[in-house]
Amino acid sequence: MLQGRRILLVIAGGIAAYKSLELVRRLRERGATVRCILTRAAQEFVTPLSVSTLSRERVFTDLFSLTDEHEIGHIRLARDCDLVVVAPATADLVTKAALGIADDLASTVLLATDRPLLLAPAMNHVMWSAASTQTNIATLVARGATLAGPNAGPLAEGETGIGRMAEPHEILAAIEALLGGPGPLAGLHALVTSGPTHEPIDPVRYIANRSSGKQGHAIAAALAAAGARTTLVSGPTRLADTQGVAVLHVETAAQMLAACEAALPADIAVCAAAVADWRVATAATQKLKKTGDAPAPVLQLAPNPDILATLARHARHRPRLVVGFAAETEDLIAHARAKLAKKGCDWILANDVSPGTGIFGGDANTVHVVDAAGVEPWPPLSKDEVARRLAARIATALGRS
Ligand code: CTP
Repeated sequence: MLQGRRILLVIAGGIAAYKSLELVRRLRERGATVRCILTRAAQEFVTPLSVSTLSRERVFTDLFSLTDEHEIGHIRLARDCDLVVVAPATADLVTKAALGIADDLASTVLLATDRPLLLAPAMNHVMWSAASTQTNIATLVARGATLAGPNAGPLAEGETGIGRMAEPHEILAAIEALLGGPGPLAGLHALVTSGPTHEPIDPVRYIANRSSGKQGHAIAAALAAAGARTTLVSGPTRLADTQGVAVLHVETAAQMLAACEAALPADIAVCAAAVADWRVATAATQKLKKTGDAPAPVLQLAPNPDILATLARHARHRPRLVVGFAAETEDLIAHARAKLAKKGCDWILANDVSPGTGIFGGDANTVHVVDAAGVEPWPPLSKDEVARRLAARIATALGRS
């Protein structure tokens, strides 16, 4: 329930604005007060009258309206709420928010607010993946904003890709996670591994892999949003630390295992890290040098510990639910089933990481959840959405939903 919670909803100009009417209705049903700001472009898609009818509040549209400023100044509008939601968050408004441009009421309020911010981006998939948009989104997330979506699927222009605004029920779930009390996983400890590991060859060189850590970090954020006390053990990534999550930074598989062991006991473990299967048996203590015509060095490798299997078979502190991933380039389901048995975990999220799928390093993921009961295929989703679904599935499995 959101009884008594005050939401400031900024509706920007995109075709998805029509879905925001449904969001207003659902927020009101849950007892929230919803004040809405419509940008000029938003008014091309939905009218102030329909928004105020559903919200039962007056709608704000103009920075320089004397009546508005007299009744509630834009600074008070920006702060007189528990949460600011931007849905749809267009590329234009995201850019203004990241750069601090304040040239209309919506952007001014985003600059002036000190409240938590939830963005539901909606735009063409090429615009979403544009470097400028990604940089601006990363800036806002680094400053503490939360994202709902965008989802993958058909877009208004007849193209397909990531850019669809999250559905109203998904935005609502994100709002409830931010505001709605303890969350289904409250009182539980979740342990998540993420990112690659770096295995040193010598003091300046290492063996690594292409993992970006995006999926594992998103899972940690989703588990935290669902109320779990969350520990994220992260290999080296370019990602900012997730707010509300205890992040332990490691480099090697051995360090990752030690950090996980130290974080136990945990109720939930999700191993999303792409752990190097081998390390250099004896890393050189000095930089390897080319000496004359001497042959190229041969690296002697030694196996790394399997962190997932160690947690899943832990004698004293096996988490109640242990989830692994299977990154495969062929025979996805067969390999995932084999890993489920070999590692002793409860679920495997299998994903095809063949070159061309764009999963390694990308923002989307297509997973099949493999467990003792069978195979559950999930549609192509953003990694954030995969994370939220996983958190919801975990809550259900632990009798918490
Ligand atoms: N994993 C782990 N520790 C390792 C290797 C893998 O915790 N040393 C975990 C990963 O985090 C993932 C799962 O095991 O959850 C499967 O990882 P994957 O790389 O797909 O499989 P591997 O076990 O490495 O097997 P292979 O490389 O032969 O496919």
